[in-house]
Amino acid sequence: MVNASHPTITETVLRTKNLNVYYGSSLAVRDVSLDIPPRQIVAFIGPSGCGKSTVLRCFNRTNDLIPGARVEGKVTFHGKDLYGKGVDPVEVRRRIGMVFQKPNPFPKSIYENIAFGARINGYKGNMDELVETSLRKAAIWDEVKDKLKQSGLGLSGGQQQRLCIARAIAIEPEVILMDEPCSALDPISTLRVEELMQELKEQYTIVIVTHNMQQATRVSDYTAFYNAEATEGGNKIGYLVEYAPTEQVFNNPMEQATRDYVSGRFG
Ligand SMILES: Nc1ncnc2c1ncn2[C@@H]1O[C@H](COP(=O)(O)OP(=O)(O)OP(=O)(O)O)[C@@H](O)[C@H]1O
Ligand SMILES: [Mg+2]
Repeated sequence: MVNASHPTITETVLRTKNLNVYYGSSLAVRDVSLDIPPRQIVAFIGPSGCGKSTVLRCFNRTNDLIPGARVEGKVTFHGKDLYGKGVDPVEVRRRIGMVFQKPNPFPKSIYENIAFGARINGYKGNMDELVETSLRKAAIWDEVKDKLKQSGLGLSGGQQQRLCIARAIAIEPEVILMDEPCSALDPISTLRVEELMQELKEQYTIVIVTHNMQQATRVSDYTAFYNAEATEGGNKIGYLVEYAPTEQVFNNPMEQATRDYVSGRFG
């Protein structure tokens, strides 16, 4: 068993301790222990199928929505067990928002894309203001301010993704989880979203899954490298190999597997 190295993190927002995740009877990820610090960006990297999305989804209990998914071990948010009795997963997802690989605006107006979630969450303030502030924070206000009544689906992919980020921000989460948020975007939109992440980091804790190594080095403060090993039955089980400041993971990793992966010599 590999015991992953771990950076010294003094303040923790999210923590997994000996996390195992199963889909049905197969173990998908084993023994992940890691701490996410506040107002930093943590990148999850590693080959396909090593469990990056699986671990990410445990942070806001979206795995609950997958039939057969089961979690062992602990996931805590400010020390509180996210899977504890009486914890409302809807409230968890309000405080820990998520942005997906494929931009998924609601088939509603740009305005309603922001207002809808806020309204169901009981937002009582000035809705026009919230819409504008959220769109501004997501760096898309100038592009959409004259067409707020038009459908969110009429925007370009990069704009849709920033709209989805605005939607996530509007419900004032503390953490934003991003699963390959730029993989469907062109390089210019990608850079735009990366700049946005740097701005958002002042206020939010961000965990991003990415296959783009340059992106991990550009945006993240810490990087967690996951890998997978094949079992005798032919299944793959993911695990955390190394977690460290991004600069160290890319320039001076402790594990040979990390070195091979970040230098593109893998397999
Ligand atoms: N909904 C699901 N039902 C059953 N098994 C799943 C499900 N989602 C993921 N798995 C399995 O869990 C393991 C980890 O998958 P996961 O999607 O977390 O990997 P990943 O690192 O995000 O990969 P990728 O880089 O391709 O997105 C894989 O073996 C996968 O087949
Ligand atoms: Mg994934």
